[in-house]
Amino acid sequence: MAKLSAIRGFRDSTGDTLERMEQVEAVSRNTLEVACYEPIRLPIVEYTEVFLKSVGPSSDIVQKEMYTFEDASSRSLTLRPEGTAGFVRAYLEHGLYKERPVSRYWYSGPMFRHERPQKGRLRQFHQVGAEAMGVSDPCLDAELITLADRILKGVGLEGFEVQVNSIGCKACRETFKQELVAFLGDRSSMLCEDCRQRSLLNPLRVFDCKICKEALDQAPVMLEHLCRECHEHFRSVKACLDAFGVKTRTNPRIVRGLDYYNRTTFEIYPEDGGAQSVLVAGGRYDGLVETMGGPPTAGIGFALGVERVAEQVLQKEKRAYRHVERSSIAVLPLGEERKPSICHVLTELWDAGISAMPVWGPQGLKAKLRFVDKRGLRYALFPSEVDRMVLKDMQAGSQSEGSSSEIDWIKARIHALRGKVEFGGDHG
Ligand code: HAM
Repeated sequence: MAKLSAIRGFRDSTGDTLERMEQVEAVSRNTLEVACYEPIRLPIVEYTEVFLKSVGPSSDIVQKEMYTFEDASSRSLTLRPEGTAGFVRAYLEHGLYKERPVSRYWYSGPMFRHERPQKGRLRQFHQVGAEAMGVSDPCLDAELITLADRILKGVGLEGFEVQVNSIGCKACRETFKQELVAFLGDRSSMLCEDCRQRSLLNPLRVFDCKICKEALDQAPVMLEHLCRECHEHFRSVKACLDAFGVKTRTNPRIVRGLDYYNRTTFEIYPEDGGAQSVLVAGGRYDGLVETMGGPPTAGIGFALGVERVAEQVLQKEKRAYRHVERSSIAVLPLGEERKPSICHVLTELWDAGISAMPVWGPQGLKAKLRFVDKRGLRYALFPSEVDRMVLKDMQAGSQSEGSSSEIDWIKARIHALRGKVEFGGDHG
């Protein structure tokens, strides 16, 4: 039988990686809920037209990256490639705009894109998204960018760069497009096939191209062609970001790969990363609700790539991480007659919130200690004489002993050692 394997680009996450992903999700949730964003859970599958109408026909996602299939009633369904489309569908379907004209939501979960898998690019990946509706005030743009910045700082990252841009409104973009199309027409022979297509469908997207960078060196940029209102909006966004204390760089080439954006767009890059490593991205989408059949409604949001952020956190923490996190206790039952007291100790440790893992099995002390060492667990707790137990610090090699019925000494010892580990730099 052929060996079973996961689908290419679909990853199993375990251990350190999974712990960091969960940490990123937890910090995101705290940061967003403290800022009064409400949770919303959305389906993973939507009717295909939800994405056609929102993400847009000229985007790479719709053109080549969607997992689309027919259900038993021949309806075309798509695994969600991103969260905003489904969010706006729900916002409209449930009349949330009538209930509360100004609202803020957050969501998280898996997304699916049939891209070529490579470092930082998966076919199933996870996002945390935030969407704020009903306010066109530029301070809301700054609020969202600030929250994304706070999440990244909250998980311990620094040195990342927040890049902002404005791609204008429908009106000023139309005039600009003509100028850009004329520029691209003159250089058609220097453009790749994709960009020749883009200059017909959605010319701004040529700035996303890695191949044509040189050909576009002298290209006009939208930021210099904003109408008065869009110019003023962008100026206010930046002033408000200053007030929030968020450092940004204006990059006139951030156009974003989805069709629904207007005015503010932004991307957050890690310290040493290229386009494949964008950690968070988003922007304003004031026309989207209307395009999808609702009343004119302002909207803005972002999504954070959980795997990409978790990877950055892991890279930064490589040295200290294992010892801090692996401060759990391995509890070693030795001999049938000691098992009941071990079960008692285990439940007491768990009740006290101390992470403890029993090492069941017939092996003797030496073999069990070898296992503990290999697993990188910090402590081992095992019976010695009748009614007594030993707590061994696997890293320092030291040990202490106490009664097995009276386990407060273990808790006190663990708390003392943990304090040292977390605050005293006890880990080499
Ligand atoms: P996006 O730029 O397509 O925007 O994706 C947002 C983030 O998801 C990226 O910055 C990246 O961290 C992560 N991501 C995207 N594709 C992959 C992949 N193939 N593998 C791993 N991570 C990936 C959106 O999805 C918009 N819905 C954001 C938004 C919300 N705009 C307004 N509201």
